[in-house]
Amino acid sequence: MASSTLSSTTSSQLCAQKSGMFGPSLALAKSGRVNVLMGKERVKGMKVSCQTTSIPADDRVPDMGKRQLMNLLLLGAISLPTGFMLVPYTYFFVPPGGGGGSGGTLAKDALGNDIVAEEWLKNHAPGDRTLAQGLKGDPTYLVVESDRTLATYGINAVCTHLGCVVPWNAAENKFICPCHGSQYNNQGRVVRGPAPLSLALAHSDVVDGKVVFVPWTETDFRTGDQPWWS
Ligand code: FES
Repeated sequence: MASSTLSSTTSSQLCAQKSGMFGPSLALAKSGRVNVLMGKERVKGMKVSCQTTSIPADDRVPDMGKRQLMNLLLLGAISLPTGFMLVPYTYFFVPPGGGGGSGGTLAKDALGNDIVAEEWLKNHAPGDRTLAQGLKGDPTYLVVESDRTLATYGINAVCTHLGCVVPWNAAENKFICPCHGSQYNNQGRVVRGPAPLSLALAHSDVVDGKVVFVPWTETDFRTGDQPWWS
């Protein structure tokens, strides 16, 4: 039997079929011919009108400009923290210091500042031996000569016995190791064991007013021997 009315479910389904998947449709059933917005259908003398309320295509899919902006924001969100992590990571592999083209290392004081020779000599008396940061970060004594100039050599403070840092004893005019009692004269030559060797040397140069340590590869002037540390 032909139905004089079209149920809302049936009319909605009909309109959904006509309007496709992108938007809801509103079905209006009246007696008479079937009129569908996207076509015409006859359903038992009923007139069905579908009012499509689909969303405009421009609103559903972001335009190219918006997508490019979103891509740029995403790229920035990823690359900025990555860059911040890479910079210190890369810097870790760069050797510290650098004393120009000589292959030396700028001497640093206890606060990590570059040592300026003139300033150093103002504050350190003749005969002074004070630790600075030397080659490869080793503690190295800067020596002030009796004429108030910097000696052209620095003395590595690492004991040649088992590696303790050897303090300067001004009263004894020696370096005396607190660990096992080894002694070195005021130039770092071993004078009492158990240390088997003298303290290592480094050149102490002044470049542009700053103290620079350079590896010592020549004969050890204290012993006449080839340097054991190079
Ligand atoms: Fe210096 Fe043993 S570490 S004497």
